[in-house]
Amino acid sequence: MSQNKTLRNDSRRTFLQMSVAAAAASAFRIVNEPLLAAAAIDRERKQFPPGAVVINANENPLGPCDAARAAVVSMAPQGGRYSYWLTDELVDTFAQQQGLKREYIRAFPGSSEPLHFSVLAFTSPSRSYATADPGYESGMHAAKISGARVVNVPLTKFYAHDIRAMLAAAPDAGLFYVCTPNNPTGTLTPHADIEQLVAKKPNGSVVLVDEAYIHFSDGVTALDLVKADQDVIVLRTFSKIYGMAGLRCGFAIARPDLLAKLENCGGWSALPITAVAAATASLKHEHLVSERKLLNTTVRQNTCPRKPTFSWSIPSAPLKKSSTPWPRRMSSSAASGPSGRPTRASPSAPKRKWMRSSPPSTPS
Ligand SMILES: Cc1ncc(COP(=O)(O)O)c(C=O)c1O
Repeated sequence: MSQNKTLRNDSRRTFLQMSVAAAAASAFRIVNEPLLAAAAIDRERKQFPPGAVVINANENPLGPCDAARAAVVSMAPQGGRYSYWLTDELVDTFAQQQGLKREYIRAFPGSSEPLHFSVLAFTSPSRSYATADPGYESGMHAAKISGARVVNVPLTKFYAHDIRAMLAAAPDAGLFYVCTPNNPTGTLTPHADIEQLVAKKPNGSVVLVDEAYIHFSDGVTALDLVKADQDVIVLRTFSKIYGMAGLRCGFAIARPDLLAKLENCGGWSALPITAVAAATASLKHEHLVSERKLLNTTVRQNTCPRKPTFSWSIPSAPLKKSSTPWPRRMSSSAASGPSGRPTRASPSAPKRKWMRSSPPSTPS
């Protein structure tokens, strides 16, 4: 077979694989940041210009650290094996670092799956999905599948989740989604407010705390609430500060009975061992988080004082204040923002009052 023919066959096979993957993704509606970003690009039929600083999917341009890259390379030859014990080592490493029991931790290829599985497991036509507005929209797509009412509650004037308004607006909630630091505002919801939400939430509901960006902030983790056996699921991802969005690794951390409910929605599967090895190496890198956090803070400080050329306000972060009193405006609609359209920032989105936050590009 000629080389061209081999390439043609390979491309066809790749195309078929991609079509199958795309069909499967749309059947299960795992809609996450990269898919939303890709959809925005397709809509405009635009390509990124060479050298563009791409922030639309909140990736980390630094990529995996050197130790993680080396781990990927050395693991690749063993790719013929599932090697589940490598995932055990990853979980044990995280458990030890965080003072958690290993059975409270499940590893996934990223945090989008456990986010969606949580929504599917805990919401239904009679148990609503309560989220912030503006907020990370991914869970709303899963709520469409479970047939849940989506309750969008505006952030407080300090850009924290308005816990009291969320409780008031969704007394039937099956799941309260708290993203802190929040995407797209980059602002924190105080730990005390999350504790209050957990204490006052309706029976049988869970609080899903998405800590995808926590390493960039001085925010307090909600892992203590998991350790205290509360109805709390915490999500962590290696896609952001660890720069592994394309490698795919993340955790759901919760009481084992809550994790078992997620299992009903998608089961567990073997993870890519290259991603697992890279994640373990990243966790074992003593200074990685502090170095990257410092870099991010420095770039933010150098960027934000400049006079903005747009009329949006930039929320100051981190926020230490507790959330403000209610009532506040709130909307209740399936997978929609205040305008009734999906709240996805894209260059074409008109009259938006907010913008997404992102890890910085490497400073030149
Ligand atoms: C707040 C938040 N949660 C979860 C995710 C999902 O990321 P991943 O599936 O790569 O872990 C993203 C992605 O951008 C995000 O912004």
